[in-house]
Amino acid sequence: MNNLNNKKVLLIICGGIAAYKSLEIIRLFKKNGVTIKTILTKNGAEFVTPLSITSLSQSKVYQDLFSLENEAEMDHISLSRWADLILIAPATANTISKLANGISDDLASTVALASNKKIFVAPAMNVRMWEHQSTKENIAKLKTYNYKIIGPTIGDMACGEYGEGKMLDPKEIINHLKSYFKNFKPKNKFKAIVTAGPTNEYIDPVRFITNKSSGKQGYEIAKSLSKKGFDTTLISGPTNLKIKNDINLIQVETAEEMFQATLKNLPVDVAIFSAAVGDYKIKKTSKIKIKKQDKLNLELEKNVDILNYVSNHNSLRPKLVVGFAAETNNLEDYANKKLIEKNCDWIIANDVMNKKIGFNSDYNEVSIFYKNDKIDKLAYKLKSEISDEIVEKIINHLN
Ligand code: PMT
Repeated sequence: MNNLNNKKVLLIICGGIAAYKSLEIIRLFKKNGVTIKTILTKNGAEFVTPLSITSLSQSKVYQDLFSLENEAEMDHISLSRWADLILIAPATANTISKLANGISDDLASTVALASNKKIFVAPAMNVRMWEHQSTKENIAKLKTYNYKIIGPTIGDMACGEYGEGKMLDPKEIINHLKSYFKNFKPKNKFKAIVTAGPTNEYIDPVRFITNKSSGKQGYEIAKSLSKKGFDTTLISGPTNLKIKNDINLIQVETAEEMFQATLKNLPVDVAIFSAAVGDYKIKKTSKIKIKKQDKLNLELEKNVDILNYVSNHNSLRPKLVVGFAAETNNLEDYANKKLIEKNCDWIIANDVMNKKIGFNSDYNEVSIFYKNDKIDKLAYKLKSEISDEIVEKIINHLN
């Protein structure tokens, strides 16, 4: 899984010979699906041009703190809030010293000071500068401010000397960011509900109507949410699956029980309805076992639509309501219809005719339909991987 996909990174390029490597960083960001904005310091512009950065990043380069044009488009505070993460590469001794001492006399240092996001610093400088007591003290200070210092490494320097001070290789920098996002947990614990599995609609005490759902997709979504720090409640119909204790598991049998359990656990930030809830129940369930007879007529009545009820609730509607659509044909049309009729924010549709995916398989292939007509397709992969990707999108949305 690509932990950088869809992330927003603000890259600050300072003035050092290693600035040329920032172009390779931008290229790798683009390859990994990262949206980039760049700040180029005055000294940085001596080494790389805004034109080469824009051509690679396909976005604007910000340079001046007091630029009317920049402030009108995105002021320095918005710029610092926009990013999921800030990377300073190369970070010079001068910039490191400014950050350590709260000096904000240009756009780069002001944005860093104003930021509420994780800041990665990739130092690059001459070995003597790196070993200087003042640099050591500044780096120690930055660590206490929760900056993440990556590198430098040892090697031949552009100035002809050898030692510690070389900026990390762009690939290594990218790997640091990947592992950061992999382990990232939202600070404020979001609350989530997931419904999963089938429901049993009883005919008599020993017989019921059910469907082929195993609960696997819903359980995997609950696991992915919990892994990312969500306070997760899983409301599950009858399945053979087990789940870790850090997920609040509520086991139910009928649609009515699933409905009541869902209501009891609201409000939440996000609700994901992956259960295959019986659309109908038996109008009059027999209290005793029905004896064999030539013909048996069962009258069915509609079950409450849990998703529909929650997504139209005045006060309890979660910030994000995600429905599923299990379809055997016309997947796109029916998914879009459900998106509108059930008032969901997203509908995740899967083809349940295809034996390799959908019901009971460990694999799935889904399309996510959004209100703005956008569709994301998640190709054939493990349900656990599909779930991780869905949860990444949820985190991006909530943030
Ligand atoms: O459980 P698995 O074996 O892993 O299989 C996964 C799955 C195929 C069950 C899952 O990926 C899936 O598609 N779940 C939705 C199944 C379904 O009932 O779809 P639907 O199109 O009938 O319902 C649309 C949406 O309304 C669903 O979000 C459903 O949970 C919700 N609904 C439906 C009826 C009802 N009474 N209450 C509801 O909340």
